Amino acid sequence: MDGNGRWAKKRFLPRFFGHKAGVDALVKIVQACIDRGIEHLTVFAFSSENWKRPSDEVSGLMGLVLAAVSRYLAKMGAMGVRIRIVGDRDAVSDKLRAAWNEAESSTAHNSKLTLNVAFNYGGRWDIVQATRKAIAAGVPAEELTEAKLSEFMAMAHAPDPDLFIRTGGEVRISNFLLWQVAYTEFFFSDCLWPEFDEHELDAAIAAFHERDRRFGGVKETTA
Ligand code: FPP
Repeated sequence: MDGNGRWAKKRFLPRFFGHKAGVDALVKIVQACIDRGIEHLTVFAFSSENWKRPSDEVSGLMGLVLAAVSRYLAKMGAMGVRIRIVGDRDAVSDKLRAAWNEAESSTAHNSKLTLNVAFNYGGRWDIVQATRKAIAAGVPAEELTEAKLSEFMAMAHAPDPDLFIRTGGEVRISNFLLWQVAYTEFFFSDCLWPEFDEHELDAAIAAFHERDRRFGGVKETTA
């Protein structure tokens, strides 16, 4: 969800207001995904590297997330959204950890769309934590296959993504779902995240349908 800061700057507003508009954009996109029958949406809300930002921006983001949970949790529940938090929870405040736990437990029965919120997440962190968990579980080295390691990844509950969208004009992964995007299609949008709407989502989906997915094999010749 890149481009919040630039969106705010264009309007001579502090960066925080860009993140605030980013939350509103996210709520609309969740609804748009439900309307299109999408069952999993994973958003990068805070990366392991975002702690390097100025402390007032980091604390602003933490406060915003807490406020967003209390403002939108009931609405998300009513929309049939199951919330899952993906990332290292050890470093976040007790208050935020409690809010995440509440968001997950109160929506656990929902199944229309799973919203995976990557928070204090990094793709490299995920690979390391999965490996550590596999070792701690006593998995012998010769049994540590790709499928086995996948069982310990933070996104084990979800299929690998079909489509990866990055907004804000940057053309890089920035340590997002490194393990899971092996055969994912990429779409880079110049839209700043607060401006990303259902029309741009449809453009991304249309581009996805033009792709020829071979997963390392050869093109299917049958219908
Ligand atoms: C990147 O834009 C955006 C972020 C680091 C934060 C995104 C977080 C939210 C929208 C809040 C999500 C809330 C919940 C409850 C899931 P940027 O600041 O890097 O923008 P810039 O590149 O224009 O500076």
